[in-house]
Amino acid sequence: MKYRKFGKLDWEVSALGFGAMRLPTEGKDYGKIRTEEARTLIRHAIDNGVNYLDTAWIYHRENSEGFLGNALADGYRKKVKIATKMPTWMVEKPGDLDRFFDAQMERLQIDHIDFYLLHALQQDWWDKMKRFHFLDWAEKKMTDGVIGHLGFSFHDKFPLFKQIIDDYDNWALAMVQHNYMDADREAGLQGIDYAADKGLAIVVMEPLRGGQLAKEPPEDVKQILEDAVPGRSPAEWSFRWLWNQDNISVVLSGMNTMEQLRQNLHTVENAKIRSFTGIEFKAIANTRKAYESKAPILCTDCWYCMPCPQGVEIPSVFDYFNTARIYSDLPTAKAYYASLGEENNAAKCTLCGRCIEHCPQHLDIIKLLKECHVLLYTEV
Ligand SMILES: NC(=O)c1ccc[n+]([C@@H]2O[C@H](COP(=O)([O-])OP(=O)(O)OC[C@H]3O[C@@H](n4cnc5c(N)ncnc54)[C@H](OP(=O)(O)O)[C@@H]3O)[C@@H](O)[C@H]2O)c1
Repeated sequence: MKYRKFGKLDWEVSALGFGAMRLPTEGKDYGKIRTEEARTLIRHAIDNGVNYLDTAWIYHRENSEGFLGNALADGYRKKVKIATKMPTWMVEKPGDLDRFFDAQMERLQIDHIDFYLLHALQQDWWDKMKRFHFLDWAEKKMTDGVIGHLGFSFHDKFPLFKQIIDDYDNWALAMVQHNYMDADREAGLQGIDYAADKGLAIVVMEPLRGGQLAKEPPEDVKQILEDAVPGRSPAEWSFRWLWNQDNISVVLSGMNTMEQLRQNLHTVENAKIRSFTGIEFKAIANTRKAYESKAPILCTDCWYCMPCPQGVEIPSVFDYFNTARIYSDLPTAKAYYASLGEENNAAKCTLCGRCIEHCPQHLDIIKLLKECHVLLYTEV
């Protein structure tokens, strides 16, 4: 295993970490973890040097933390550091902070958590956490020795990412969605550099875009990658691109088979910081272009169309539609679309046309929203 600096801490993290969000399950029942198989995977990862495990309240319909608590018996707990997260959107009153935290400690069978994160921060939830004085609450837990270090995971744009970092001096880590297709989205490379300069460790999530970048690529992408380095798998390309970056501490992957775990352990052994050649960078740039050329809606995510008076989250709707087409992954796109809720989906459009007036790309947003809704909406 390769180990890397973890921000300001006097501790080295394994370059590959284990995300307990995509464990093997009974068929499609996301809540039913195949515990023996999953335990074997986690323990094999630890036996091979993985020392960072990531979980959260909601993963596997609230069964991931409890699973991990059991899986880390027999001395495995002391070989790793664990990160779990406050489900920010579920907090409704100040007492909820203790309620979630205490239940998490019980599920994980621990009385000290190494890293405690605010989950999936976006503007509303960060504002709410400030209203509930989360940082004072967490500082007290750190003084009491119950929380080791604080961090946050993030799903918004760079300005908020910067603001969150500037709002508090004592973050140990930031967890960002990062892969070669998302290098300029959310926190982006700009955010990673900013956080690293301030001494935060960077924990990467969705390195394979949840598996989309590991699938059999379309013919043109396959050709680009194969011409550059014959025989390298798409997953290996994605991981190597990440491990080439010196600002990244740990790349989490949600592995659910022994084969995936073995491959990723093999890749991490061979990947090196700042080792990418010009040919490899060019192949990644061309791959990105080839994927992006498959996006049917040429939205640049500038958000000039927002706010929509009806609350339709227009750029996100287009993003999910493009996801369905670029990666041939309709189920994921539908799940993202459903997460907008009935309040923010395209059906709320009243054809007012305010968005069209502001779109620098001159997209026919009203027509496109209708198409998106037809493709992505699933009645529940
Ligand atoms: N805080 C947050 O907001 C947040 C959000 C997302 C994730 N996370 C955390 O970050 C972790 C990592 O994200 P992720 O699970 O999305 O990681 P990921 O590595 O992008 O995706 C995992 C999926 O990639 C596929 N895969 C992994 N290794 C492979 C290989 N060698 N060959 C082929 N396919 C491979 C598997 O897909 P198949 O299942 O299709 O085989 C697996 O389910 C999560 O587990 C979770 O702990 C946090």
